[in-house]
Amino acid sequence: MKNKHEFIEKNVGWLAIMIIVVISFGGLVEITPLMFQDQTTQPVKNLRPYTALELEGRDIYIREGCVGCHSQMIRPFRHETERYGHYSVAGESVWEHPFLWGSKRTGPDLARVGGRYSDDWHRWHLENPRLVVPESVMPGYPWLNENILDGKLTAKKMEVFRSFGVPYTDEQIQGAEKAVAGHTEMDAIVAYLQSLGHALQ
Ligand code: HEC
Repeated sequence: MKNKHEFIEKNVGWLAIMIIVVISFGGLVEITPLMFQDQTTQPVKNLRPYTALELEGRDIYIREGCVGCHSQMIRPFRHETERYGHYSVAGESVWEHPFLWGSKRTGPDLARVGGRYSDDWHRWHLENPRLVVPESVMPGYPWLNENILDGKLTAKKMEVFRSFGVPYTDEQIQGAEKAVAGHTEMDAIVAYLQSLGHALQ
């Protein structure tokens, strides 16, 4: 037995192979069970898919790089839950493709920002954050008020999400263009922000 171990330690090829085997096994043992646990694969009770307008808002959030300054992941620590509310759970994110958990917090976490401010507050804040938070270092996004959505791709996007398992109904998909067309990008991103955290406040 002792000699076998010496053989592995002295042959760098074998050592590399055995290290890979050990690390892969360790990884599998940790990751595989998560793929089958209800807690990580099933939506929480009140979760609903994003509406057509919220979904467009989410795309604008991605386009504008908000995730570079804002996380959407409340960690289970007292100082986080006192400030932001219930910690984030996996079942809230099962229909998120891709996840927008982020890791950089130049600004506050937004996982439960929905309902915290009025729509008007968000409109002023996104137009120019200094209008409502004088010391803010967040950039303004005035063009969101000018860009009008036509909703032509919204139904297609919802179909793609449905193929990933998001339970959109045929009616929702058929009505998507009408629900979005004519709204500004500001309407869409505010609708998205107001929906954040709806399933578990
Ligand atoms: C350069 C970093 C930066 C970027 C990019 C950024 N933010 Fe912010 N954001 C901040 C900072 C700092 C604050 C805190 C000051 C304030 O309220 O303006 C903040 C605050 C907020 C708040 C208020 C949160 C609260 O709980 O008070 C919201 C909502 C928000 N940002 C949304 C957005 C959205 C949507 C985008 C993308 C369109 C965005 N931010 C992009 C830095 C950023």
